[in-house]
Amino acid sequence: MKITMIGAGYVGLVSGVCFADFGHDVVCVDKDEGKVAALKKGQIPIFEPGLDHLVASNVAAGRLNFTDDLKTAVASSDVVFIAVGTPSRRGDGHADLSYVYAAAREIADNLQGFTVVVTKSTVPVGTGDEVERIIRETNPAADFAVVSNPEFLREGAAIEDFKRPDRIVIGLDGNHARARDVMTEVYRPLYLNQSPLVFTTRRTSELIKYAGNAFLAMKITFINEMADLCEKVGANVQDVARGIGLDGRIGSKFLHAGPGYGGSCFPKDTLALVKTAQDHDSPVRLVETTVAVNDNRKRAMGRKVIAAAGGEVRGAKIAILGLTFKPNTDDMRDSPAIAIVQALQDAGARVVGYDPEGMENARKVIEGMDYARDPYDAASEADAVVIVTEWNEFRALDFERLRTAMKTPLLVDLRNIYRKDEVAKHGFRYASVGRPD
Ligand code: NAD
Ligand code: UGA
Repeated sequence: MKITMIGAGYVGLVSGVCFADFGHDVVCVDKDEGKVAALKKGQIPIFEPGLDHLVASNVAAGRLNFTDDLKTAVASSDVVFIAVGTPSRRGDGHADLSYVYAAAREIADNLQGFTVVVTKSTVPVGTGDEVERIIRETNPAADFAVVSNPEFLREGAAIEDFKRPDRIVIGLDGNHARARDVMTEVYRPLYLNQSPLVFTTRRTSELIKYAGNAFLAMKITFINEMADLCEKVGANVQDVARGIGLDGRIGSKFLHAGPGYGGSCFPKDTLALVKTAQDHDSPVRLVETTVAVNDNRKRAMGRKVIAAAGGEVRGAKIAILGLTFKPNTDDMRDSPAIAIVQALQDAGARVVGYDPEGMENARKVIEGMDYARDPYDAASEADAVVIVTEWNEFRALDFERLRTAMKTPLLVDLRNIYRKDEVAKHGFRYASVGRPD
């Protein structure tokens, strides 16, 4: 299959290179000329484990190319994926679809022969209908089908998620046997590997993506509230999570209590679902509450640090370990660290941050914070060290070295990666989330 991927971001680049690895002929198009130039030189604009090698091998095999020339790429393609951003619209929280519709217009003019246009971006119900309308209006003679194929990969595990998905959801409308055949061919290697292909209508497929993300966000928020309750009643949230997660109907994944979910997707997608539901006079109150609880939680984690430090941090130095919204990514979008740092700065603390991959992006979104070379440099003369993101690098800290560097040996572990006894024996005071400290 000849595939064009429009948008070479986290999803477009990973999907494009994985399709190339399946043996398809893929061109990734991005309107960001700097990104395309870098990719052509073999430089990967994001941090995603394994991506550099996979890109290099598929470029070398001649199956993967990068361009900003959408026109030529689309004209020779069997399938055109739209994988551009759908951020929250400023002001109202609806998904901003301007990039998707702009891409649809550009595609329309250049279609040649039967082409399947696929929305891989996360888009609200009805977007596929509008993409179809735009293409038909722009190019009435075009022979095409619009398909919804949402993506479920996670950053940091993107290649593995793409190549071993729990399912592939494909939404088609009307009598689109041709489109169904094309999509089956695109995913053939996964289909042969027995990944389930879920065929449904376009609108249903669009909603599946939001329902999935909202459910996972709700699950995390539920365990976070249980963690707060555990602290009040002297119970252990990790044991609660294990105790309920072993029930197959509940499942153990996404039950890790922490500082609240962040990232480029859960926050914006839960909000967009709330807006869609309100527009259709069918409010999703569980999701509304999830959004509100999670928003409050991030700043509350700043207050938790202040409480652990004795209620006052004015003039204190606080070291933050981990700035990205999760490990193994450089993505700072909606990271809990942003609100935590702000809360500490508002209380008069001087904050120093360290992250293995996220510091360049952190500088763009966090003001007034200093940056350290490594965890020990961050801890130098600090009154508290706070683990916000569970990078592997923080899982085996040298506690003697850390304590010697610090002014006051206090460790606040917002990801529960340590146990109190192992930290306390090195002379630290220790606070974590939802566990008897
Ligand atoms: P991103 O911001 O990393 O990348 C989007 C890219 O699209 C940018 O490089 C931008 O320059 C490019 N672009 C925008 N308009 C264009 C146009 N008209 N022509 C060519 N290029 C264009 O975004 P992302 O994180 O990859 O997310 C893309 C979509 O996938 C979103 O809808 C998101 O919700 C969804 N999604 C993301 C993830 C994830 O883990 N990041 C996972 C599943 C789904
Ligand atoms: C999430 C979904 O997991 C993907 O399936 C989906 O494709 C993607 O959103 C998307 O639509 O973009 P991602 O945001 O990359 O993926 O990362 P997750 O691993 O889901 O983590 C999201 C946030 O939840 C992080 O801040 C993480 O720390 C937090 N989290 C996750 C917890 O606090 N506890 C958990 O148990 C799991």
